Amino acid sequence: MKISNLLLASFLLTATTFAEEMNTTKQEGVKYIKMLGGALKTELQAHIKNDPTGLEALAFCTGSADRITQEVNAKLPAYAKVRRTALQVRNDKVNAPDAIDTKIMNEYKTAIDTKTFKPTEIKVVEEGNLTRIYKPIITEAACLKCHGEHISKAIQDGLKSSYPQDKATHFKEGSLRGVIVAEIQKH
Ligand code: HEC
Repeated sequence: MKISNLLLASFLLTATTFAEEMNTTKQEGVKYIKMLGGALKTELQAHIKNDPTGLEALAFCTGSADRITQEVNAKLPAYAKVRRTALQVRNDKVNAPDAIDTKIMNEYKTAIDTKTFKPTEIKVVEEGNLTRIYKPIITEAACLKCHGEHISKAIQDGLKSSYPQDKATHFKEGSLRGVIVAEIQKH
């Protein structure tokens, strides 16, 4: 084999290994994102079923969404973390976006606006020692009770008292509600 071929072969091998590493990190991130998304959604649905006014679900989201996020994180390896954020946040104490989050969410938003959006599109961002994996959260009919345009008086009152700075209303079905982000440190 000529030297140049050898170099090419070794380059390709490195590139493939790198691509595989990226892929497994992405898969790992998606797994953690699904753990958090699944845990929250299962509970939310059960509370809405139990009390269709949404008040019980509201108490759950207000009182337990953050605790569940911490519980899911406690199950992950020390090098990994998962969280939710949004462009218009309700719980700005724990869910406020940073500059990278905002950039990624704006990309998703543009894709939705220009009808090029794929709901399964995971975005991966390398940030020094960290890989961030993003999954979009799309507003569904079930979310509108607390994030939509016509929110009942009782829910509005509850939201106002817990989140005076609430920006997470007036969403429409199919719009970007936010993202779940997994952050995985190189290890
Ligand atoms: C019963 C009311 C209620 C319903 C229904 C509801 N949410 Fe929320 N949501 C909340 C509350 C309260 C918070 C703030 C507490 C928290 O979760 O951190 C919140 C926060 C969020 C956040 C975190 C970002 C932020 O703004 O703080 C996301 C993302 C979110 N909701 C998405 C959804 C989606 C998607 C649905 C539908 C599948 C949904 N919500 C349905 C009440 C609700």
